[in-house]
Amino acid sequence: MNAISIQHGSGRPLTVTDPEGQFRRNYNRMNFMFKHELAGNPLFELDSLAELTRRMPDHGENYWSTGKVAVNNTWSDGTIGRQSLQDTITNIKHNNSIVILKHTEQDPVFAPVLQSVLATIIELSGERMRLDVTIGEVLILVSSPGRITPYHMDSETNFLLQVTGDKWFHVFDQTDRTLVTEREREDFFAVSRNCAVYRSDRQDECNKYDLLAGYGVHVPTCAPHWVQNRDNVSVALSVNYELRSVGRLEKLHRFNHRLRKFGLNPAPPDASAWRDRIKLAAEDGVTAVRSVSKRHEDPPPYHVWTPPAA
Ligand SMILES: [Fe+2]
Repeated sequence: MNAISIQHGSGRPLTVTDPEGQFRRNYNRMNFMFKHELAGNPLFELDSLAELTRRMPDHGENYWSTGKVAVNNTWSDGTIGRQSLQDTITNIKHNNSIVILKHTEQDPVFAPVLQSVLATIIELSGERMRLDVTIGEVLILVSSPGRITPYHMDSETNFLLQVTGDKWFHVFDQTDRTLVTEREREDFFAVSRNCAVYRSDRQDECNKYDLLAGYGVHVPTCAPHWVQNRDNVSVALSVNYELRSVGRLEKLHRFNHRLRKFGLNPAPPDASAWRDRIKLAAEDGVTAVRSVSKRHEDPPPYHVWTPPAA
């Protein structure tokens, strides 16, 4: 089925459908699998993606990594001694690599389809999501046969759309504080995005999705996950949204981290509404002082996608 030939009621290309109402029911609450219409779209063939890298401005944010990695490695592994970005994509079938192209929804050729995906997912998920999203972004992930994406979690809420190839996609429960403790979440928001610790003895507790081209998986904010490609090249879209609610959570964790440096043992976010109000105001104060002391803050050197008004 040609994704671009089908029109939404809004006139947008129809890219994701949800006959069972999963998006509205489960968005950012639990992981789930869904169908999409982008498999086989020639936009996502390797030649087209290599062309995209030549066309898109280089903001220094694209990521690629080469060489063997394991489930418990970090994002910094495999970034030394790699080929150029274009050569890594062209040779992806044989170089055991992963490439992540960022801000692809801003490219004029990809924008009509990718911005439609961004808007459609919000439409399917409803007001709870629309009112919370600040920025949407689509990353294109290209990876080699058998390649592992190590265990990690993301602050964005995510929809991973498999376009080419197939993989095992493992997602854990983001609400389980025995798997990721409050303290580990605080470190994630206040210290390093690289600090999720894989626990092999908990592996059986994840949802293990057999992710084929034409299907996607929703990964709620901070749900730990890791991926293993099967024996073919994988092209997937990582559709990410930054949320106001997560920005609030990040401020609370950062302020708790400051308190901890003074020997205090603060309550986690959402344990006390009045304490949270004070912490948020205090963290805003710290941030305001810091931004005044800097001469100016440069805006990002690219446009960003924001949700359309209802
Ligand atoms: Fe991720």
